[in-house]
Order: sequence, then structure tokens, then C-alpha cells
Amino acid sequence: MSDQAVADFGLIGLAVMGQNLIMNVADHGFTVVAFNRTVAKVDRFLENEAKGKSIVGAHSVEEFCSKLKKPRRIMLLVMAGKPVDDFIESLLPHVEKGDIIIDGGNSHYPDSNRRTKYLAEKGIRFVGTGVSGGEEGARYGPSLMPGGNEEAWPFIKDIFQSVAAKSDGEACCDWVGDEGAGHYVKMVHNGIEYGDMQLITEAYDILKRGLGMTPAEIGDVFEKWNTGVLDSFLIEITRDILRHNDDDGTALLEKILDAAGQKGTGKWTAINALDLGMPVTLIGEAVFARCLSSLKQERIRASKVLKGPEPDFKGDRKEFIDNLEQALYASKIISYAQGFMLIQEAAKEYKWKLNKPSIALMWRGGCIIRSVFLKDITNAYRTNPDLENLLFDDFFNKAIHNAQAGWRDVVSKSALWGIPTPAFSTALGFYDGYRSRDLPANLLQAQRDYFGAHTFKIKPECASEKYPEGQDIHVNWTGRGGNVSASTYQV
Ligand code: 6PG
Repeated sequence: MSDQAVADFGLIGLAVMGQNLIMNVADHGFTVVAFNRTVAKVDRFLENEAKGKSIVGAHSVEEFCSKLKKPRRIMLLVMAGKPVDDFIESLLPHVEKGDIIIDGGNSHYPDSNRRTKYLAEKGIRFVGTGVSGGEEGARYGPSLMPGGNEEAWPFIKDIFQSVAAKSDGEACCDWVGDEGAGHYVKMVHNGIEYGDMQLITEAYDILKRGLGMTPAEIGDVFEKWNTGVLDSFLIEITRDILRHNDDDGTALLEKILDAAGQKGTGKWTAINALDLGMPVTLIGEAVFARCLSSLKQERIRASKVLKGPEPDFKGDRKEFIDNLEQALYASKIISYAQGFMLIQEAAKEYKWKLNKPSIALMWRGGCIIRSVFLKDITNAYRTNPDLENLLFDDFFNKAIHNAQAGWRDVVSKSALWGIPTPAFSTALGFYDGYRSRDLPANLLQAQRDYFGAHTFKIKPECASEKYPEGQDIHVNWTGRGGNVSASTYQV
């Protein structure tokens, strides 16, 4: 090993997340080498933020690699997509068998599957890790969700678990699973983040339009909610946003254009849910709600010609606000139950061994969806790692029953007032569907068989010689069609 090899860890990409993560790693007693494609950024960083810390710089990929102890531990925090592949290619001539390349961007998990295989063929251990928590998290403790080549884990565990956020003394970081499993779990985290944010915006809208409350008054509601079951980072920042006034003394929030942006991770989750045939309805609605919001000009035109009812609140405000808290809580339970349903199905489909208690723990602290609530989810999966659905856990079963009356009150009043609640409503629709022993899909099957000979199965209790149990049955509904059935296509 050259005497230049001083660094325990190397990080490429000196944007805000990269700089903060480097300082976090250095604060935990590791020497870090930093590199950035625009090398002037390296010098600026060394002269300013990194000054006096165990951080060294490099002006080329070659120099960067020569400064790393072996096996080299190299993390990329660059834009997802082509830049990750480009950096991997530029590193390859300077790394050797056993070295570790970690991608910490918001990469799509199929890319991480591909990179794990590609690099394993060259003897390089690839890790695709979810990193959550924004700038603050990167600096003082993110949630880290690493997956990929498991041989890398013993070499990075120490650094990762030291810099990660802690929850009740436990690191919010554990090995997630093979290939792109780390980025997959981060993708679902982001989908859930979309859902949580959408639910909060619906609560704000109901308080604003339904009850006519001011941002400051709504801020007080969020402050109270943040001391109860909803205690979480997103509720906390919403309280602060509602209280943030512009120079003229009015809430800045009300001046912000109501057209949501998105970088695509929520959409990936919804697409994956459709691909796996999982009813992850709340995240789907949250993505569509962002899409609808972005049709601002069209909505302005529609608002002039499409009429609806006006809110007319009557009754006890305090009681209604408590109901709204319950609606938010119950919908959140549904969203997480759906998220874990998806993770469970992905584990089956992609043959990953995913550890649900660890996933809940990784989200417990450091990340955007961190909350007290995730402690209860961790407990549920620790008590029973094979839990079929979060709604079968005693704690959540009771919680959703207690919240139910308030939740129904909010969804029905919002509908009568003409206030859109796509996430609250879809959560309730899912709950009522999931708890229904009988759904009207019998009619749907009959229709499919009627017009397309797509066949149906008979209910076991109705089976007979004419309609045997388990068989694909086609009926000539009109007396005109033939007896040939179409082949079946299942998601
Ligand atoms: C995190 C966040 C982060 C994400 C932003 C923006 O966990 O720190 O999920 O990774 O990029 O929240 O996402 P959108 O632009 O899609 O809202």
C-alpha cells in the first residue's frame, strides 16, 4: 500500500449532500478523501467547511484512488442515471479486486441490480444505498439503507452505522438485501413520503377551506398533533412552515404556487406496485394529486365553469379537529400497511431476503418519514417478523378501530363540502375493501366472461358437478356465443 493511502473512505460528488456526509464521516474518526468532477470545488471545500478536519482532497480519479486504504471504500453521491455509470467506468482502471463502490444517490433499483452484477464480474463489490434525511441528515445522522453485494457489508458496516442516525441507541442502518434491494427500500420510503405529505396537505386544506382557519391557527393544530400519535418530522416542519411569515407579516405559504414538483421516486413506487399487482393505492393517489396540482392553468379555467358545494361547517370544531387527527392517523396506518405489502411482494418476486423489522428501524430516525409511529411498526415486526399485514397486528388493529369513526366523518364531510381528499378517501376505500369478505368482483368476472369468454371460477361452497371447484368455467350467457374460452392473463 502506498504511503499516500491515508483515507478510510472516499466520497465523490461535492454537492450539498456529499459535503455534509463527508463531514459526518470525518467527525466519527475516519479520514476521508474527497473528489468532485469540477475540481475547483474540492479546493474550495478543503479551504472552508473541511478545514481542520480529517479530510483530504484529490484532483483526479487516479489520485483519489491512490489515497484510499484497501479494500477501497468509495461512495458516489452524484446525480442518478448516467453520471453513476460514467464514474464507475472512470474508477475501474484504478480500483482492484475486493474494492467497494457505493452509490448513494436516488438510483432506480433495476440500475443497482445491473451494477451489482456487472461489478461482481470484475471482482468489485457494489453497494446501492438509500440515503435519506436531506442536508441535516447527511451532516448529523441520515437513515442509510444499503443493499447489493453482501461481501461488502463487513467492510462498511462500521462507518455506516457510526454516521447513521440513532433511535433509542440503535443505528438507523442495517444491511437490506441483495442487488438493488437498498435502493428499492429507499424508493418505497420515498413513495411513503409522498403519501404522508399528501395526507398532511389534505388536512391543511380541510382546516383552511372547511373550517376557515388561518395558517397560524392551523400551525397551532399541527403543534398539538406533534405531541401525539402523529409526532413526526413532517408534522413538525409543517407547523414551522405554517408559522413562517413573509416581510409583510402574512404567511409565505399562501404565496407559494400550488403546483407540485416531483423527481420520480413516488412514480417508480406506483409503477412497481402496478407491476407486482399490489394495491398501493395511497401512494398512487399521492402521485396523481401532484400531477393534478400541476395543471394549474387548466384548473383555473375549470374553477370558473365547474360548480360544486361550499363548505358549511356546523358543530363542534374541537371534536372535528380531533376527528381529522384520527383520519390522518388511520390513513397513515393504511399507507404503511400498503408499503409493507409491496416490500413483502418484492421480496418474493425478486427473491430478496428482506428484513421487515430492520426496515422499520431504518426509517425510525434520520429520514424524512421519521416518526414515533415507526417505533410501533418496528415493534409489530419484531414481535412477528412474518406478520401477514400490519393491520393484523394487535396494536394497529386497535388503533384503526379507534380512529375509524373520526376518519369516516372527515371523508364524508369533505365530500359534501367539495374539498378533495384523494389520499384520505382511497385509504378508507382500501380499508373497506380489504376487510370485505365479499367484493363485487364476481360481477366483474361474469362481465369478462360474457363479453370475452375470459372464464371465472365458482365459489367453493357453490361448486357442483356442472360447475366444479377450481376450474375455469365459461358460460354461454346469450345462447349465441360459442363454448371456446379465451386464455387467461393474470397480473
Ligand atoms: C430523502 C428524500 C429525497 C428526495 C426529496 C425530493 O429521503 O431525503 O426522499 O431523497 O429526493 O424528498 O423528492 P421529490 O422531488 O420527488 O419530491
